[in-house]
Amino acid sequence: MSTNIDNNAAMWQTDAGVQSFISKQEAREAKRRAQWMLMAELLPFGEDESFTVLDIGAGTGPAARAVLELFPRANAILADFSTQMMDEGAKSMARFADRYRYVTFDMNSGVWPDSIPSDLGAVVTSQCVHHISDLRKQQLFLEIYDHLQPGGWYVNFDPINTEDALVEAAWQRANERQDPDAAEKERNRTPEEQARYENHVRYMIPLAPQIDLLTQAGFEAVDVYWKELDHVIVGGRRPLR
Ligand SMILES: C[S@@+](CC[C@H](N)C(=O)[O-])C[C@H]1O[C@@H](n2cnc3c(N)ncnc32)[C@H](O)[C@@H]1O
Repeated sequence: MSTNIDNNAAMWQTDAGVQSFISKQEAREAKRRAQWMLMAELLPFGEDESFTVLDIGAGTGPAARAVLELFPRANAILADFSTQMMDEGAKSMARFADRYRYVTFDMNSGVWPDSIPSDLGAVVTSQCVHHISDLRKQQLFLEIYDHLQPGGWYVNFDPINTEDALVEAAWQRANERQDPDAAEKERNRTPEEQARYENHVRYMIPLAPQIDLLTQAGFEAVDVYWKELDHVIVGGRRPLR
């Protein structure tokens, strides 16, 4: 049975919820590596430039790691509200030990800790903005804008939904051809898998309003920099003045 009760914290701030996610992390990292690399490649820095990237909802930090790999003089702040995810991330981030730090931060709070500076070179978000309401998305994009230096970029990799039934059917068709077990898995979700699915889709929105929110926040060069079915990379930069 479907419920509208927001179970996001229960998913991410419990050992069981996080272990369920982490058990599939290796496969997820193999599948999404090209997207995280593209997020880094979009940033306008030279290899010898130093800047700070903030990864919000960083989890184990794959988006931040892509930036640290491409830009050897960059540093990263990884923000998350889940102690369990940050503990897992400490393992994945070990080779960048002197170039990153975790900050406890709830994307819903609207209050940014002083440990996040307001002259960031870039902000990235990967697969987490769909966990907050539309109002908070709107506010978060403004808060990100305020924490970027002029010319700084915000890049978001996230799933989207659609109000067009034909488009949804086409996405589903392709997804099922790529993963022949998908339909069966969907029909036979455990209660835990169903709760995770509901948390996944609760605040997901179509592409057009995402773009509108970025533009309304003041970003320029807003574009869909990558798209495959129901996953997109969108972003833009804070104008120079
Ligand atoms: C699907 S995981 C994505 C993690 C990572 N960015 C990636 O792409 O692998 C979602 C992440 O967002 C974090 N998250 C969810 N809601 C949050 C909130 N309100 N504030 C901060 N982090 C949140 C979770 O703890 C989790 O690490």
